[in-house]
Order: sequence, then C-alpha cells, then structure tokens
Amino acid sequence: MPSLHQKIAVVTGASRGIGRSVALRFAAEGSSLIINDLDEELLNETASTIRENGGTVGVVAGSVNEEATAQSLIQTALSEYGTLDIAVNCAGFTWDGMFHKMTHEQWQAIIDTHLTGTFFIAQNAFVAMRDIAKQESNNTSSVSSSRRIITVASQSAFGNLGQANYAAAKAGIIGLTKTIAIEGAFLNILANTVAYGLMDTRLTRPKEQGEVFQQRIALGVPATIRDKAIESIPLGRPGTVEEAAGPILFLASDDSSYITGQVIEVNGGAHL
Ligand SMILES: NC(=O)c1ccc[n+]([C@@H]2O[C@H](COP(=O)([O-])OP(=O)(O)OC[C@H]3O[C@@H](n4cnc5c(N)ncnc54)[C@H](O)[C@@H]3O)[C@@H](O)[C@H]2O)c1
Repeated sequence: MPSLHQKIAVVTGASRGIGRSVALRFAAEGSSLIINDLDEELLNETASTIRENGGTVGVVAGSVNEEATAQSLIQTALSEYGTLDIAVNCAGFTWDGMFHKMTHEQWQAIIDTHLTGTFFIAQNAFVAMRDIAKQESNNTSSVSSSRRIITVASQSAFGNLGQANYAAAKAGIIGLTKTIAIEGAFLNILANTVAYGLMDTRLTRPKEQGEVFQQRIALGVPATIRDKAIESIPLGRPGTVEEAAGPILFLASDDSSYITGQVIEVNGGAHL
C-alpha cells in the first residue's frame, strides 16, 4: 500500500522546484492534495500532471504572505476532503545582498514570505488539526493518528554570506516549528523542519543564467560562489528535487510517527 494512502495534504510552492516534487511524490503515494503557489499557470500544470497520473488534487493560487490564502487553502482541503492530515510549506524565494547594503524592503519581503507565510499556513493547519484530533479523542478517548506540519528551513539558518534576511527567516522557522511540536504533542500533531543545503532549483543555479522572481528580483548564486559551495559538499554535487522530496515524504508518513520538533539536515554532508 502506498505510504500516504488516503492522507489529505496541502503543499505550498507547488508550481516548481521542491514543492512541485513533493506534490507529485505525495500524489504517487496515495495522498489527495490541495496545492498552492503564486504562479497560477504553472500550478495548474502541476495539477494536470497529478491528474494525468491518476491523482486527486485541487488548487488555491495566491501568496502565502496573505492570511486569506492560508485560510482558503485549509478550508478548501476540509470542504473537498473532510479532513486534513499534512501541511507542507515550500513557498519561497531569495533576495540576496550583503548585510550593509540590505534594504528594509529586501529584509521585509523575505520575512513576509518565509516566516510570516509559514506562520499563516502552519497556524491555520494547526487549528484545523487540533479540532479534528480533539473530536477523535472525544470519540475514542485517544488520538491514534498523528497529523503533520512540515516546514522548510535551510542550512542558511546557521548563517550564510549575502543572506541575512533569509538566514533570519529560516532560523525563525526552526524556532516556530519546535514550538508547534511542543504545543501539538498532546494531540499527536507532529512538527518537523527540513534544512536543505544546495538543492538544484532556480534559487541555486548560476545567477548568470538570469532567472528572475516577479520580473525584478535576480535569483541564483554567482557561479564562482556556487562552484566553491559544491566543492565543500562531501557528496560533491547539489541535491535533486526528488532527493528533497524524499525526507518530506518520510516526515509525512507513518514511519516517522515518533519524530517531532526536529531539524532534518539534507545537504549531501555539508557543514559550515
Ligand atoms: N533550492 C535550495 O537549495 C534550497 C535550500 C534551502 C531551502 N530551500 C527552500 O525550499 C523552498 C522551495 O524552494 P525551491 O528551491 O524549490 O525554489 P523554486 O523557486 O523552485 O520554488 C519555489 C516556489 O515558491 C513559489 N512562491 C514564492 N513566493 C511565494 C508566495 N509568497 N506565495 C506562494 N508561492 C510562492 C514560487 O512561485 C515557486 O514556484 C523554499 O522555501 C526555499 O527557501 C531551497
């Protein structure tokens, strides 16, 4: 039986990169999904791919910066499927710059999407999961099934050149997730975060390739810095999006039912 048989999940940032890979893998493992992203056209492409492969999925386009998006995402899952088992926050981008030059706009944009966006999705999911778990405990006097909140941090949370805004947001996500784990434990709501190193997506490809976010923010890492970063990875290469999705699948599955409040580092062995 697939590992997420009959599980209901929401995944943000599912138009591309890690979030898309998580959504495809969850669907292949039997989960029914509601997926989100800013980029509606690509989000619908992810949904079409899932449906072509026999999966069940709905879409809620919009920015995770707005609480209304989180509310709509969770309410859609509840109204479409009647319950919620798993929430995964993959939405994000980078807006790098040296600390002494970082603008307030640059700082706030990253805090809004990564930290506040994760707060909105996780809190709305948590409230729904609490209600469902309480109902279950009223009916059976225990909460046998565990529900999962999975957030995405980064190795940058421990400090990274040119990423003061992103490092602060990702470090915040670690503290937020550990706190959710403490407060959710009595209702068997588990919360863990995955701290990726260098995974191969548009956020980490050579900046010289000219990839931009929302028509104005340059994405990627300067080629010389990227080459040095790859040299420092014991496995000698960036991770793939499939390798990023695997640990999230594990944290969503019954195989991780005794793991909560953890930071799982997925980085090819790299350490600062
Ligand atoms: N790629 C890496 O090496 C790496 C390393 C550490 C952490 N991460 C984290 O992994 C997550 C996924 O990143 P990725 O590498 O797959 O990047 P990506 O650019 O391939 O995918 C991110 C997706 O998030 C969406 N998004 C951005 N802002 C949004 C918003 N406000 N609301 C809704 N959707 C939004 C984008 O449209 C995009 O489709 C991010 O949180 C990122 O910080 C990535």
